[in-house]
Amino acid sequence: MLRRSAPSYQDHASFSRTMYRNTRNVSADSPPPPPRRRLGFLQKNNSLEERSRIVSSFKERSARNLMSCDNSGQETRYRRTETDFSNMYARDLLPAKNGEEPTMQFLLEVVDILTNYIRKTFDRSTKVLDFHHPHQLLEGMEGFNLELSDQPESLEQILVDCRDTLKYGVRTGHPRFFNQLSTGLDIVGLAGEWLTSTANTNMFTYEIAPVFVLMEQLTLKKMREIVGWRDGEGDGIFSPGGAISNMYSVMVARYKFFPEVKNKGMSVAPRLVLFTSEHSHYSIKKASAALGFGTENVILLSTDERGRVIPADLEAKVIAAKQKGYVPLYVNATAGTTVYGAFDPINEIADICEKYNIWLHVDGAWGGSLLMSRNHRHKLSGVERANSVTWNPHKMMGVPLQCSAILVRERGLLQGCNSLCAGYLFQPDKQYDVTYDTGDKAIQCGRHVDIFKFWLMWKAKGTIGFEHHIDKCLDLSMYLYNKIKNREGYKMVYDPQHTNVCFWYYPPSLRGLPEGEEKRERLHKVAPKIKAMMMESGTTMVGYQPQGDKVNFFRMVISNPAATRSDIDFLTQEIERLGHDL
Ligand SMILES: Cc1ncc(COP(=O)(O)O)c(C=O)c1O
Repeated sequence: MLRRSAPSYQDHASFSRTMYRNTRNVSADSPPPPPRRRLGFLQKNNSLEERSRIVSSFKERSARNLMSCDNSGQETRYRRTETDFSNMYARDLLPAKNGEEPTMQFLLEVVDILTNYIRKTFDRSTKVLDFHHPHQLLEGMEGFNLELSDQPESLEQILVDCRDTLKYGVRTGHPRFFNQLSTGLDIVGLAGEWLTSTANTNMFTYEIAPVFVLMEQLTLKKMREIVGWRDGEGDGIFSPGGAISNMYSVMVARYKFFPEVKNKGMSVAPRLVLFTSEHSHYSIKKASAALGFGTENVILLSTDERGRVIPADLEAKVIAAKQKGYVPLYVNATAGTTVYGAFDPINEIADICEKYNIWLHVDGAWGGSLLMSRNHRHKLSGVERANSVTWNPHKMMGVPLQCSAILVRERGLLQGCNSLCAGYLFQPDKQYDVTYDTGDKAIQCGRHVDIFKFWLMWKAKGTIGFEHHIDKCLDLSMYLYNKIKNREGYKMVYDPQHTNVCFWYYPPSLRGLPEGEEKRERLHKVAPKIKAMMMESGTTMVGYQPQGDKVNFFRMVISNPAATRSDIDFLTQEIERLGHDL
């Protein structure tokens, strides 16, 4: 049996409340600061009458306790009070009779845990992670046990579980977390995610998600306008990630040229081949495997000295495939490759696709967001010629996971490719315009609401705010590049095009060694060792990998707007500190 101690949630709760008050320098009864920029919001959205109603409601709320909760329908407000949760259970919460007060107290405690976590995430003296090996977490930590139980556990334990789940996780919003393409903790995005979970609805029909469906349509149109399709024409859908968006692109391409595959299967099609860079994301191969093309029918394209597809190689391989009797169906051009951040030359690739009548997809999962920057959108020059585009706001734009869009230039293909008209959901005789029942375009049935947090962030930042965020991340990566490109002990893998900065670090003991296999082997071990020490000490996180014949190197990526030059300096100091004696 795994050990279960009896933690006192209250101890933690009162401690964290004190911390909260101390750091904010407010007492429990201090009013919150007045809402900022409210007139902009009011001017834009409300009639005069409505405005004055909202203003007085803001004022009223300002006069109340910071931790009070507005249950607006009933005008009931809850103040957080010391509550003993050790004898309370989920069954005591709503919809239980008299469950309202315990529910509100429980949720206010949860909010307290979350706000503490958020506050600490931006505090550089907090570790990025508190690393434990899997067996340690599985054995159970003090008061925290992953095993599921037959009997209900108290709400006190549930609160401990909430707190410890965050405690033993990784702070991906920390300014020194550089490990993944998706980083950051956007406060408005987070609010959007909370609201989304509260609404707990499903994107398949307008019937049950009217506001979210419209937001999705409007946002997709805006994204298509930014891609450069006339009047934002075309189609699209939010999907569970870039890999799935890429899969949609392959499905739609196949449907465009061989619609009968939908009903009859792949046996009615000739041998179809797909082309993609040797540096492209593995999801193209996965899509090929999942959709019955087979990974051997994905032809990898050679790249130049900066990791970009060589168009002549594409044309040669298209011709060679045709000579073998294969049918070139689809080319993927990557805008921002995963490791090097390379941008394939879309215009030249588009010329070849037009010449041979091949579907052109642009995988902009990572680099598509650069379209929002006037300084950097030229890197995707020609994107408007693509038949489809993947664009992940959950990477470079800092939208909380998950948020990825597949955009398709030709309207109707997504619907034709995927619709099965399930009678219990998509009744044609509903009282509203059923073209807003967009769920049948998806390969899923139920679909999570990914749009709201993104829409809300867009409202809160404006297009210009995203542009600023992207420019800032690119500036920071140039700062790193300029800092290390001639620094002793560093060697660049490629000159950066995106925020990816790929480099080797040579500890002093390797620097004098002659070039050769021994040096390569020792260098190969450096990045994993430094990374392991970083994780053990919890100070920062950055990725590494080998690529082709290149031994392990660091891949620094910046998408977190909280990061500053001092965090970049910190990263290089850590690498040098931890790697010095290797
Ligand atoms: C270029 C590229 N495409 C697609 C993907 C897959 O995106 P997701 O992780 O959202 O499925 C990634 C992920 O890193 C990527 O870098």
